[in-house]
This record gives sequence, C-alpha cells and structure tokens, in this order.
Amino acid sequence: MQKNTLMLIGGAVALALTAGTATADTAAGEAVFKKCRVCHSVVQGKKKVGPSLYGVVGRTPGTLDGYKYSDSMKAFGAGGASWDAATLSTYLIKPRATVAKTKMMFPGLKNEADRTAVIAYLDSLDD
Ligand code: HEC
Repeated sequence: MQKNTLMLIGGAVALALTAGTATADTAAGEAVFKKCRVCHSVVQGKKKVGPSLYGVVGRTPGTLDGYKYSDSMKAFGAGGASWDAATLSTYLIKPRATVAKTKMMFPGLKNEADRTAVIAYLDSLDD
C-alpha cells in the first residue's frame, strides 16, 4: 500500500519534471548562479572580478570588449573554442582543467544537474 503510493508520487514528479524541463532548469539555474554572482553580473557589459555573463552562450572565450582576460583564456578562444553548452559544462566542472591558467578562482560545479541548470539560465538571458 505504502509502496504503491510512493510509486504514484514518484511517477507524478517525473511527469511534472518532463513537462516543465526548460522552466525548471532556468529557475534552478538562477539559484545555482548565486555561486557565480560574487564575481559575475548578468547585466550586459557590467564587469565585476569576472566578465559579464550576459550572452555568454555562443561567445568565443576571452573576447568580451572592455574586460581584461588572462592570456590563457584569450588563447583558449583564439584556438577555436566556443562557449557552447558542452564546452561550458566541461569548463565548469573544474575551470583549470580546461583553461590551465585562467584567473577564474572557482573550484567548479561537480553536480551535472547544477551545470545544466546554470547553463540553461545563462542561455535564457538574451532571448
Ligand atoms: C571568484 C570569482 C569567480 C567565480 C565565483 C566565478 N567566476 Fe567565472 N570568471 C571569473 C574570472 C576572473 C574570469 C576571467 C577568466 C580569465 O580571464 O582567465 C571568469 C570567466 C568566466 C567565463 C568565461 C567568459 C568569457 O567571456 O570568456 C565563464 C563562462 C564563467 N566565468 C562562468 C562562471 C560561472 C557559470 C560561475 C558560477 C558557477 C563562475 N564563472 C564563477 C571569476 C569567477
């Protein structure tokens, strides 16, 4: 009896998640972004310690005008990289594993769902 009830609840949750993936990710991503906000603004052109992340999805790494990137980040972009979802996700696991001498002092987001959500959030900003 109890087990059946639990299974029903589980099914309803799974359905709700499938139906609202984009919105759920965006809201969850905004929450994850609290970890980035000390150093990043999402206001276009507004830099903090790090560059504005407005429109970052699709940007060539190290190319936002008016921000002084590390040589490492500029070289990463010059080498042909692009901040697509896959590259962002790999970078965010452990930034220094992707861009060896980046000045982004952030240990990384180990949780894949957190990475997916924060990327969905960033991608939603310049729609
Ligand atoms: C302690 C400060 C700090 C935190 C926290 C931080 N960043 Fe950064 N971030 C930076 C700095 C500084 C740079 C510039 C890196 C360079 O030039 O090497 C950067 C660069 C980036 C870039 C490359 C942007 C570009 O224009 O090429 C992305 C993407 C990024 N950060 C995403 C994030 C996300 C997402 C989070 C949160 C999960 C985060 N950062 C947390 C400081 C931070």
